[in-house]
Amino acid sequence: MNQKLDEFFEKVITVKLPQDRSYVDIIDQTLLPGTIRRIKLDTREEIWEAIKKLRVRGAPAIGVCAAYGMAVLANKYKAADYDAFYAQFKSDKDYLATSRPTAVNLFWALDRMDRTCQANAFRPLDELKEILFTEAQAIRDEDVQISRNIGEIGFGLLKNLKEDGKELGIMTHCNAGTLATAKYGTATAPMYIALEHGWEGSDMHVYCDETRPLLQGARLTSFELYNAGITTSVQCDNMASLLMKSGRVKIIFVGCDRVAANGDAANKIGTSGLAIIAKHYGVPFYVCAPSSTIDPKTPTGDQIPIEMRDPEEIKTMWYKEPMAPEGVDASFNPAFDVTDHSLITGIITEKGLCTGPDYGAEFKKLGLI
Ligand code: MRU
Repeated sequence: MNQKLDEFFEKVITVKLPQDRSYVDIIDQTLLPGTIRRIKLDTREEIWEAIKKLRVRGAPAIGVCAAYGMAVLANKYKAADYDAFYAQFKSDKDYLATSRPTAVNLFWALDRMDRTCQANAFRPLDELKEILFTEAQAIRDEDVQISRNIGEIGFGLLKNLKEDGKELGIMTHCNAGTLATAKYGTATAPMYIALEHGWEGSDMHVYCDETRPLLQGARLTSFELYNAGITTSVQCDNMASLLMKSGRVKIIFVGCDRVAANGDAANKIGTSGLAIIAKHYGVPFYVCAPSSTIDPKTPTGDQIPIEMRDPEEIKTMWYKEPMAPEGVDASFNPAFDVTDHSLITGIITEKGLCTGPDYGAEFKKLGLI
């Protein structure tokens, strides 16, 4: 329990429902760090757009938003019977599933809501609507506990590396923080848990890759950690190698959007390069993965669909003036890359730390797949 930290978490709650549950309430992450503004998502088109445009982003948060979204939408159906209700439910679910392709949490949450709907087909529709809200709330609440468990395991690693009187250098990429989840984040959870266990913010020094092109590291992760009182720096992505060579980075934590059954992990573009550099300099590289991000149906990273995004994100978004000539090609704009499991020191899940190389066997042993 850390009151200041809890107040901060409260201020930036990523996704929530208002008391009358008539819309999904999100913090618009495209406006951060300058403006903290909450927006209402009423319709399926608004929910879809918010996910697509990264107003709400980060694999677990997308799952929570989709789950709340389905409950809110279903609550407004005027269907006469279950078949009509389910036809509408299925159409909304399939539509939301087209918003982004890589983070498996989106499909995982939508499927879980779907299974709940079908399992309760025999109930009166008003009761079914309540059950859907309860399921969405469970998805959100479970995420808090899952992140906490990941954080405790990650904190154990930090404690082993900490030298008395010295700040511990930690690097992260993109934002796998509170803004990407329901509370603690995944890659940031070890740091937040460290504060809860009495560490000072100055006991750590977190190096946040700015994370081109959408700058989640600069705009979101550094915003979070700095406001939580943790010593925080932002550096350009291409500075990571020199930082690691200097010995300042003792450990790396990243999040993930989908982990294949063999441990290959998709995360924000640039993550695999970071893992390659980390291997070269012997810096331990950990992927923080809630079980909702582990996809047993995807055997290896080669089968993970990689989202391609608008070239304007590279050339003009966030800049006062275009950063490349107007007509120049920037069509290669993948949002994610896949880190080969051989480059990963460990995958931290809520049920335990997997250290490979046979991640599939370890996931099975822990009951994760
Ligand atoms: O495109 P984004 O901002 O949704 O990408 C987010 C990431 O890559 C995160 O690292 C990942 O979703 C894990 S969030 C706990």
